[in-house]
Amino acid sequence: MKEQLDKIKEEALAKIDASDALEKLNDIRIAYLGKKGELTKVLKSMKDVAPEDRPKVGQMVNEVRALIEEKLESTKVELSKKAREEQMKKEVIDVTLPAKKNNVGHSHPNTIALDEVERIFVGMGYEVIEGPEVEYDEYNFEKLNIPANHPAKDEQDTFYITKDIVLRTQTSPVQARVMEQGKLPIRMISPGRVFRSDEVDATHSPSFHQVEGLVVDKHITFSDLKGTLAEFAREMFGKETKVKFRPHHFPFTEPSAEMDVTCFKCGGKGCRFCKGSGWIEILGCGMVHPHVLEMCGIDAEEYTGFAFGVGLERIALLKYEIDDMRLLYENDVRFLKQF
Ligand code: DAH
Repeated sequence: MKEQLDKIKEEALAKIDASDALEKLNDIRIAYLGKKGELTKVLKSMKDVAPEDRPKVGQMVNEVRALIEEKLESTKVELSKKAREEQMKKEVIDVTLPAKKNNVGHSHPNTIALDEVERIFVGMGYEVIEGPEVEYDEYNFEKLNIPANHPAKDEQDTFYITKDIVLRTQTSPVQARVMEQGKLPIRMISPGRVFRSDEVDATHSPSFHQVEGLVVDKHITFSDLKGTLAEFAREMFGKETKVKFRPHHFPFTEPSAEMDVTCFKCGGKGCRFCKGSGWIEILGCGMVHPHVLEMCGIDAEEYTGFAFGVGLERIALLKYEIDDMRLLYENDVRFLKQF
């Protein structure tokens, strides 16, 4: 028995000495001290040992086990130290290397344009109010004077969620939502995403952004509308900018108009940018239709108002002279960083 134990001891210690990696030590531990290991086998064969010799053999086994464990531990410490030292040697830090650039993002042209629009209107005392992107048909159409069979409903190729719920095709429903709350007077703009079932091309996208505007108070006239929007245009596109209102039709305003601004590229002389006309169409607007006021619980005899809707992408494209709307949605940092 003693010989067998000595042999196990010598063998194990030699193997530990020869190991050059921590994983190997673990293999050795399992091979000798593990459940099915050499030393454990000896313990299991105790039943063949004469009872009076058992304590002696037991002690020997324990001594060998302790020896092997000790050797395993000290070798482990040694190997770990060596491994660390080697790693330190490999990982030399070159303090002369330039620091990693901190990659911060960049504001999107839409965001820059919206910040500008908000700054201008907040400066004139307007509140910024947001409405839901998933909207009731009732707010998106009915309360804006667009009943079920109105042709204006056909023009906007709507994404329907259910018969009564749509992805809003315009930010105008926020007008109805704000008027309904009954707090007067109102001076608000409402920016946000809108959706139309349009094919993607250089000037169209199924999802884009608008900024809605609404003022309701006593004695609001078309002059207020013109003065406000002319001031907006001057602030947005430069002091020299002139505006022109062309009659148009929107179901929820009466009278309605589209506003053009003088081309800020050529100052109105006509160029490639404004297609030779000297003018660029910028927004839709009008006096809030009395029927819309009434549907939202406002006395149209006492109160009047004006409203407008601007395409945010349109402003960003014009202001930054971008000729393809798709660039705004690709989020290529090289593109975005230019603004
Ligand atoms: N909602 C209209 C559209 O998407 C834009 C618009 C026109 C909004 C006139 C208005 C307005 O508030 O008065 O085409």
